[in-house]
Amino acid sequence: MPCRDAPGLPVITLFVQSLTALKTEILTIESASKFEQAASRAADLLSSGRLAALPTETVYGLAADAFNAEAVASIYTTKGRPSTNPLIVHVADKSMLLECVREWPEIAEKFSQAFWPGPLTLVLPKSDRISDDITAGLDSVAVRWPGHPFMRAVIKNLGRPIAAPSANLANQLSPTSAEHVQAQLKGRIPLIVDGGAANVGIESTVLDLCGKNPTVLRPGIIHLESLRAVAPNTMHRSAQQSSGAQKSPGLHHKHYAPKARVIILDRSDSSQPNDLINQIRRLGILPAEACVLGLEDLPSPADFLRVCFIPHDPEAYARALYAELFLCDQLGPKWILVEAVPDTPAWEGVRDRLARAAGDE
Ligand code: TXA
Ligand code: MG
Repeated sequence: MPCRDAPGLPVITLFVQSLTALKTEILTIESASKFEQAASRAADLLSSGRLAALPTETVYGLAADAFNAEAVASIYTTKGRPSTNPLIVHVADKSMLLECVREWPEIAEKFSQAFWPGPLTLVLPKSDRISDDITAGLDSVAVRWPGHPFMRAVIKNLGRPIAAPSANLANQLSPTSAEHVQAQLKGRIPLIVDGGAANVGIESTVLDLCGKNPTVLRPGIIHLESLRAVAPNTMHRSAQQSSGAQKSPGLHHKHYAPKARVIILDRSDSSQPNDLINQIRRLGILPAEACVLGLEDLPSPADFLRVCFIPHDPEAYARALYAELFLCDQLGPKWILVEAVPDTPAWEGVRDRLARAAGDE
């Protein structure tokens, strides 16, 4: 028999929620003066131990003063994030960076020269200034010098590094717009800064520099071939797993999933029909219960809840992906059917997120 709330309980729950819900201020940054005001408001909140959702070039981040242990702890409670999943620390100059790490090897200097400011996170031995709450007890810290001018302005105004995971509730999609953040965190944080759609659209590449070879823990738009131009011995985590290399603790199965069940349809699979519609038929999926994300093959939109076409370009695809998954989820489909993307280096970040969304990773 289905469970039911006791009579009156929903009313009490709503009442308690309305007492505890925060008023969330939304600020925009489309003019120079609004940008300055929002940057100083965000820095004021962070310096008093509060949280704010801020735009970065990858996805929106849920920011706290990295040197304030209570503020860092409230990131975990606000997101419902397991304490075993460490946070990225964002810096905006070299001296701040050197406060966070115990060692700064030449290889780190080379990667930072090539890709910072930008969507690359480096994992290095942590300094004593970085608390165990940030690193989930690891002896290493993940650092990133973000490319987004607003995030950099807030770090500069605060004068300290900012700890920021993606600004979503645990196990939900990372937000690439202020609307996505609002849908998940409105009423839980005092400020959301709206910087428009994120330019990269998927989370940064995470590169571990603590071992013998630089190791990609999380693929992103900066892919293996670009990293190998800096250090030819760079490898993927999977290639090094058998040698006992440390796995990124946050990279859980199904970490980046929408609510609907995601299935990847590979038209190059010789055991399957080479068009989506016949693959969908074979799975016995009712089109009226499904959304489709096509790349080259587009079934008739009339039959499905939504059919969308994402450009055949990895950067444009990455930029659009989470927004499309959010839109699909809002229609309440049972299935999101995604045409597989090419198996080439430029697509590895997108392939990784699709595989995780489908629970295949
Ligand atoms: O683009 C991004 O990276 C965004 C923006 C806001 O900067 N942030 C983001 O944070 O995606 P989050 O918390 O959602 O993902 C951080 C990833 C997790 O997979 C975590 O396990 C990994 O970085 N990580 C953090 N510290 C680590 C460490 N010391 N060793 C290994 N992996 C680490
Ligand atoms: Mg995240």
